[in-house]
Amino acid sequence: MLRAAGIAASFLLPSAPLGATETDALTEADALAGELAQQCASCHGEKGISLVEGVPSLAGQPEAYLTRQLDRFRAGQRSSTTMQPIASRLSESQTTALAKHYARMPVPQIPNPADSELMAKGQTLAASRVCDGCHRGGAATHELVPRLAGQREDYLRAALFAYRDRERASPEGVMAAATDRMPDEHIRALAHFFSHLP
Ligand code: HEC
Ligand code: HEC
Repeated sequence: MLRAAGIAASFLLPSAPLGATETDALTEADALAGELAQQCASCHGEKGISLVEGVPSLAGQPEAYLTRQLDRFRAGQRSSTTMQPIASRLSESQTTALAKHYARMPVPQIPNPADSELMAKGQTLAASRVCDGCHRGGAATHELVPRLAGQREDYLRAALFAYRDRERASPEGVMAAATDRMPDEHIRALAHFFSHLP
C-alpha cells in the first residue's frame, strides 16, 4: 500500500479550475471530439465499448490515463502498429478532447458469465500479488491507473503478457514488477477475474 501511495503521489498532475470561457470552449471541443471519435468507432465501438478482439474498451477510463497512452503511442514509447500512426495524426488538443469524450461515457459490463473457479483463483492471486494495492475492486483508483473491471478479458490478458515480457512499459516499472515471472495460468485467471468484476 505504501509503495502504491508513493507511486500514486508521483503521478499527480496539476489541474486548473474551469472559468466561464473555458466552459464555452469545452462545449465546442465536445462537438469536435464526437466527430473525431468517428475515426475510432470501428475498433473501439460507438459508445467506447469494444466488440473487437484485442481492442480495449475506452468508456469510463480516467481522462489522464487515456491522454497518457495516446501520448505514449505518438512518442513511440508504447508500441502498436495500429495505434502509433493513428495517435501521430492527433494534435495535443484533439488528444485531450478525445480523452475527455471517452472518460465521460458509461463503464461497460462484461456480458458473458464468470467461471467461478477462475474467479476464486484470480481473487486469491490479486490479493497475494498485491494487485489490490493499486487496482482494488478493478476500479481506477488513481487518474493514471486504468479501470480493469468491465474491460475485455482478451485485452487484459494480452496487456499482462506484454508487461511481463517487457514489451510494454509502465510508470516506474510497476507493472513489470507486479507480473515478474508470472506463470501463464496466473495471467489467465487474473484477466478473467478483473474483467468480470462489476
Ligand atoms: C483499427 C483499429 C483501431 C482504431 C481505428 C483505433 N484504435 Fe485505439 N487501439 C486499438 C488497439 C488494437 C489497441 C491496443 C493496442 C495494444 O495494446 O497493443 C488500442 C488502444 C488504444 C488506447 C489504449 C487503451 C488502454 O486501455 O490502454 C487508446 C487510448 C486508444 N486506442 C484510443 C484510440 C482513439 C482515440 C482512436 C481514434 C482517434 C483509436 N484508438 C482508433 C485499435 C484501434
Ligand atoms: C503499484 C501500483 C500497481 C500494482 C501493484 C499493479 N498495477 Fe496494474 N497498473 C498500474 C498502472 C499505473 C497501470 C498503467 C500502466 C501504463 O501506463 O501502461 C497499470 C496497468 C495495468 C493493466 C493494463 C490495463 C489497460 O487498460 O491497458 C492491467 C491488465 C493491470 N495493470 C493488471 C494488474 C494486475 C493483475 C496486478 C497484480 C498482479 C497489478 N496490475 C498490479 C498500477 C499497478
